[in-house]
Amino acid sequence: MQDKLKILVVSVEVAPFAKVGGLADVAGSLPQYLSSLGHDVRVAMPCYRMIESNPKYNAQPFMSEFPVPINDKITRIASAKTTSLGKVPVYLIENKEFFGAAVDSKSVYRTGADPYIFFCRAVLEMVRRMDGDWVPDVIHCNDWHTGLLPVYLRTLYANDPRFNNIASVFTIHNLAYQGEFDFETLAAAGLPEKLYNMDMLECYGRVNFMKGGIVFSDLVNTVSETYAKEIQTPEYGCRLEGLLTYMASLDKLRGALNGIDYNEFNPATDDRIWAKFSSEDLSAKSINKAKLQETQGLPVKANTPLIGLVSRLVDQKGLDLVRAAAPYFLKQDVQLIILGSGDPVYEDYFKKLQEKHPDKVSVTIGFDAILAQRIYAGCDLFLMPSRFEPCGLGQMISLRYATVPMVRATGGLADTVIDFNPKTGGGNGFVFTEYQSKALLDTIKRAITTYGDSRKWSKLLDNAVSSDFSGLRSAENYSELYTEAVKRARAKSLCICA
Ligand code: GLC
Repeated sequence: MQDKLKILVVSVEVAPFAKVGGLADVAGSLPQYLSSLGHDVRVAMPCYRMIESNPKYNAQPFMSEFPVPINDKITRIASAKTTSLGKVPVYLIENKEFFGAAVDSKSVYRTGADPYIFFCRAVLEMVRRMDGDWVPDVIHCNDWHTGLLPVYLRTLYANDPRFNNIASVFTIHNLAYQGEFDFETLAAAGLPEKLYNMDMLECYGRVNFMKGGIVFSDLVNTVSETYAKEIQTPEYGCRLEGLLTYMASLDKLRGALNGIDYNEFNPATDDRIWAKFSSEDLSAKSINKAKLQETQGLPVKANTPLIGLVSRLVDQKGLDLVRAAAPYFLKQDVQLIILGSGDPVYEDYFKKLQEKHPDKVSVTIGFDAILAQRIYAGCDLFLMPSRFEPCGLGQMISLRYATVPMVRATGGLADTVIDFNPKTGGGNGFVFTEYQSKALLDTIKRAITTYGDSRKWSKLLDNAVSSDFSGLRSAENYSELYTEAVKRARAKSLCICA
């Protein structure tokens, strides 16, 4: 049994309030599972305009204006509102200049360091002022936007008795985005110049917020075991592989696989899909398939394998492989439904592909949570050929909806999808290793052949729906990480005083 802890999860994206990618899903579901384990969990995120203006979230005043000292010269003003995620209180840090213009997922992220410097310090200043003496045992920071928070804890706030016992865990959801800024940013953040060295915040001549989070937190994790290993290599390390290898040698770098919200993603209760079904009885899945084909303008064909792809349309997702393989696999009796937005190169390419193959390809550019769900539920196969994938949630959702993932063996995809073996009947999807269109093509062909063999296919579907990637398991993992981080923080006499 783990200790019951006071946990503050800090993220700039939290679903359903503000979602750009998978980070939001994790930051939205993990706290609720942690709370179900008995922890006292709260969440802090920026108060984007679309949250406070949405009556559904009923954001209430929580803390009136308070000063946030940024550096010797600048003090900014924050206030906080509160809403909730189930039983979990969510604190919304307000500042009109930084977060007031965010009206949709496209405007969540701002350029420059200032909004994130401000957010990290405002969270700590809010904690300082919280009533009832709520001091977290651990602050769980996520991705580079929150990277300065562990830095502040161990520098500017290190001598404050309210803060010096707080542990921090830093989670890398995606190493490709590190938050790199010029030297002047250090002064802008109110941090001393002596932190500008290669053991701390400096990285290839820049101030690196992700590196700050990695170096100054008590424990670092990434979102799958395989990605934790991959990021120690030059191929995946995005120039931090040396540091990450060093962290691993200190046993400070871990892999903790994400999970998904099994209440939200449940085909037996999901109102977003046309026909509900359970893992014991998949018969209504075919209704979802027919409706999906019909509404997406494809011929309704029960026996044609239907492939779904729901993704940010960016290089990371292996879309160049899809582009190279499409002319070949589209010669077969197959249909492809795509939903996503991102790089205009891919958006244009997929739109053209649809024009060329109107009876086989349907493309929707944008983000549409309902359509996404209908794709997960209605397709036979789900495509995720990522170049790299820290964890990936799409494959977990599709498994839950009896849609068989076809993935490249990288990061979390390698840890969740096992290649189907027609001889033994083992495996829950189709996996390839080489980042080559030929490998993808062979995998799609293999999947189509298996689809044509109803006995094998039904065994595969059984395996898919019995895979368990519930967020509960992930929350249990994090409980252990937090407990260990707390021990480490308390044992640490190290104080890098500013
Ligand atoms: C990022 C990663 C994705 C991961 C998600 C949540 O979006 O690209 O692989 O699943 O974060 O951790």
